[in-house]
Amino acid sequence: MVTAVARRLAERRRRLDAVLAPFRLSPHALRQVKGKMRRELERGLRRDMQGTATVKMLPTYVCGTPDGTERGKFLALDLGGTNFRVLLVKIRSGRRKSVRMYNKIFAIPLEIMQGTGEELFDHIVQCIAEFLEYMGIKGARLPLGFTFSFPCRQASIDKGTLVGWTKGFKATDCEGEDVVDMLREAIKRRNEFDLDIVAVVNDTVGTMMTCGYEDPKCEIGLIAGTGSNVCYMEDMKNIEAVEGNEGKMCINTEWGGFGDNGCIDDIRTEYDREVDEGSLNPGKQRYEKMTSGMYLGEIVRQIVIDLTTQGLLFRGQISESLRKRGIFETKFLSQIESDRLALLQVRRILQQLGLDGTCEDSIVVKEVCGAVSTRAARLCGAGLAALLDKRREDQGMQRLEVTVGVDGTLYKLHPHFSRVLRETVQELAPQCDVTFMLSEDGSGKGAALITAVAKRLRQYLYAMRLSDETLLDVMARFRREMKNGLSRDFNPTATVKMLPTFVRSIPDGSEKGDFIALDLGGSYFRILRVKVSHEKRQTVQMETEIYNTPEDIMHGSGTRLFDHVAECLGDFMEKQQIKDKKLPVGFTFSFPCRQSKLDEGILITWTKRFKASGVEGADVVRLLSRAIKKRGDYDADIMAVVNDTVGTMMTCGFDDQRCEVGLIIGTGTNACYMEELRHIELVEGDEGRMCVNTEWGAFGDDGSLEDIRTEFDREIDRGSLNPGKQLFEKMVSGLYMGELVRLILVKMAKEGLLFEGRITPELLTKGKFETKHVSAIEKSKEGLSKAKEILTRLGVEPSHEDCVAVQHVCTIVSFRSANLVAATLGAILCQLRDNKGVGRLRTTVGVDGSLYKMHPQYARRLHKTTRRLVPDSDVRFLLSESGSGKGAAMVTAVAYRLAEQHPGQSHRVVLGESPKEREAGGEEGETPHLGGFQGGDLPSDRRVTLAMLG
Ligand code: BG6
Ligand code: BG6
Ligand code: GLC
Ligand code: GLC
Repeated sequence: MVTAVARRLAERRRRLDAVLAPFRLSPHALRQVKGKMRRELERGLRRDMQGTATVKMLPTYVCGTPDGTERGKFLALDLGGTNFRVLLVKIRSGRRKSVRMYNKIFAIPLEIMQGTGEELFDHIVQCIAEFLEYMGIKGARLPLGFTFSFPCRQASIDKGTLVGWTKGFKATDCEGEDVVDMLREAIKRRNEFDLDIVAVVNDTVGTMMTCGYEDPKCEIGLIAGTGSNVCYMEDMKNIEAVEGNEGKMCINTEWGGFGDNGCIDDIRTEYDREVDEGSLNPGKQRYEKMTSGMYLGEIVRQIVIDLTTQGLLFRGQISESLRKRGIFETKFLSQIESDRLALLQVRRILQQLGLDGTCEDSIVVKEVCGAVSTRAARLCGAGLAALLDKRREDQGMQRLEVTVGVDGTLYKLHPHFSRVLRETVQELAPQCDVTFMLSEDGSGKGAALITAVAKRLRQYLYAMRLSDETLLDVMARFRREMKNGLSRDFNPTATVKMLPTFVRSIPDGSEKGDFIALDLGGSYFRILRVKVSHEKRQTVQMETEIYNTPEDIMHGSGTRLFDHVAECLGDFMEKQQIKDKKLPVGFTFSFPCRQSKLDEGILITWTKRFKASGVEGADVVRLLSRAIKKRGDYDADIMAVVNDTVGTMMTCGFDDQRCEVGLIIGTGTNACYMEELRHIELVEGDEGRMCVNTEWGAFGDDGSLEDIRTEFDREIDRGSLNPGKQLFEKMVSGLYMGELVRLILVKMAKEGLLFEGRITPELLTKGKFETKHVSAIEKSKEGLSKAKEILTRLGVEPSHEDCVAVQHVCTIVSFRSANLVAATLGAILCQLRDNKGVGRLRTTVGVDGSLYKMHPQYARRLHKTTRRLVPDSDVRFLLSESGSGKGAAMVTAVAYRLAEQHPGQSHRVVLGESPKEREAGGEEGETPHLGGFQGGDLPSDRRVTLAMLG
């Protein structure tokens, strides 16, 4: 008898062990899991794996842990864990830093979790409304941080596209949508209150930040609750999907999806498969389904059913309760496994669940629970060990000391989970000293901290971010300005002057001669000798000298300025030993000039850094000629004055015949392009084209850009040499960009948002932060160390977070500049396209200017936005390698030939093909050629001829 009982017990033991054996993972099996997890973590970071990796490694755009300077009053939502919470979080900074929180838990009924997206978000907004009412704060437009505990693809902190629902949610029409937009729309639908949604945050990230507020070493956030997931601070250089190499960004691993490619199927049991098949997302989140609270009870239930079927439990009777999915919630699992409970109490819990069994049954169920939860903790530990080792190795450390912030009911309430997890980590990552820090306050606090940081930056920078919609609007406005400038009636009052240049064609390859070019108005004053020869093919030889133009000369009398130019020219000719020659001179003068012929330029107004008296309203060619004559030691013949945009277009046109736009993004900004003569009402004639210098820097001087100008733009303007003028230029060009950044930094520092509120005299000095610094700080590799260097020179001791923030400010300011230029350039491209009457424009834009050339990202951003704003175009951006001097020489070449042909005549000189001349000269339809211009072999639109008009 005794032996029969013993045998029965032994048999029962054997069969129970057989069922539970696959749950008892050997150290070897765990190490294998660790290795596989490590591989998946690495794969997820790779750009080429973005679509296919099962561990998604989602960038979160959270770039630092809290530094104690956060402050303000915030609303937080916490959706996706066991409870849905709405919170009010008040954060105080400084020495008495503190966080006060008020929260309310709301239920989300199952039919809403699995209804439509609209219903879900309407319900959330309904709960917010109740909370605001309850707290008596309905009127305030509070900033909101949204903890949304599902995988989201983010392109910024305030946007999150749901990749796929996990856990118990399955609302329709949400996957692939931006959940922030959905929340915003639901708020709009309700139309009762407004909120400023600043950040969307995964619960792991919120947890890391909550704990990071207490412990700066906390760089990992772990959730072991309804779901299972981890986030951590990763080096930017390892995140291929995000631009930039400096600093860190938090990555939401979404490791719950580990194994979805089958890589851990060897350790999955039949029970895991049952659970998966019965879930809302079969085949997905396989690791999560073995490790998190939502599924552990389900696994237990599957095993219990099996054991009952085998007659090992509940007298072989499967009760109704046992058939109910979800009866074993995590909390029951935790209770059953508690050592403090007597068997009788376990039995009572089971009875409450409708499972009426003997004490022996209770022992078995408890053992099953233990096996399942232990496996979960060990698997979770193996995953964490993989991450820890990765971080240790990435940083080249012998030992890694790190804090892991943890939250979740499984970790908090289960009697053994946290211990087993810690032991496993120790076993598998022995070189890591890990402190586990329990998040007491939930992730809402962390979300509020993130919101505080994002909000303070956004406050200043929000207005600088221009949506495509705004840019298209700016483009349309500029197009109208162009029309006004071209019209005879509106030109006198137009802000965008659209100046005729009397250049009517780009170089055709037949130019030749020996010329001097002056290049005044950009960063440097250059004098060049340009020799264009024509042996077998056209070649250009150039020699350049750079001359200083001291500020007192730029701001002194006009006479002094031109005496200085004449003196430098004398020096140059001396050096070139050509003082005895009278070489033709082309004058690139990079300021707005009214021209009625090539060799006349009446300065309308100084721009940029110049402000010499007595020049505005005068002809700069005459002023320079007079200064040269006054010296009497050499002679020069100024044949053409051209704007730098025109010089640039001509320089680039020399290499690319399709070039019909000249663009400068340097000290100043401006563009010229080839316009149909019939549209230029200020110049007679209807046929052919003429280059128009838009002088777009003045765009906005009539108030038309006020809606997008910021307080910083206004401050720049007030402190400039020409207040109220060149307002577009002041938002865009290099002379102002560094200063714009400086003003923003000062404001942020004053509010304690940067440098711990320290402001130094250097930081307060105008011009101390230069545009070249913006370029250096935005370099992807060494940008942050440059930021540190530059800021240190300004006397502040920047923290890493300061450097990241400053880099962010630089990016926003320079991005805005590139976007604005894309909009105005887009208007020109549309005009060209319409002029040509083609569906798709193919054209080349010649570009010059230090900002475009030196800034590491500018050109790419400009090209990208331009193509987005004008999609029906193929635009080639051609960098002018040799400056505008070469182009100026090309113009001069033609002008010179004209003068040679018609000595002593004072004419309105036009470069290019002239219909009038064609009518007047020679035989019908024949183009008159002057000098060496043998245009006959060229297609007619490439012919360059000279014409003299009345
Ligand atoms: C809470 C956090 O404390 O823990 C939530 O505030 C998080 O953001 C949750 O989702 C995770 O645990 P559980 O067990 O509720 O899923
Ligand atoms: C130079 C041109 O390359 O670029 C000048 O030769 C032009 O004519 C200048 O004015 C514009 O750039 P920056 O940065 O010097 O103002
Ligand atoms: C699920 C979600 C994840 C979340 C985790 C813990 O795995 O996909 O985003 O962090 O649950 O709540
Ligand atoms: C300023 C000048 C303009 C010039 C531009 C680029 O905007 O007014 O003539 O082209 O700077 O140098």
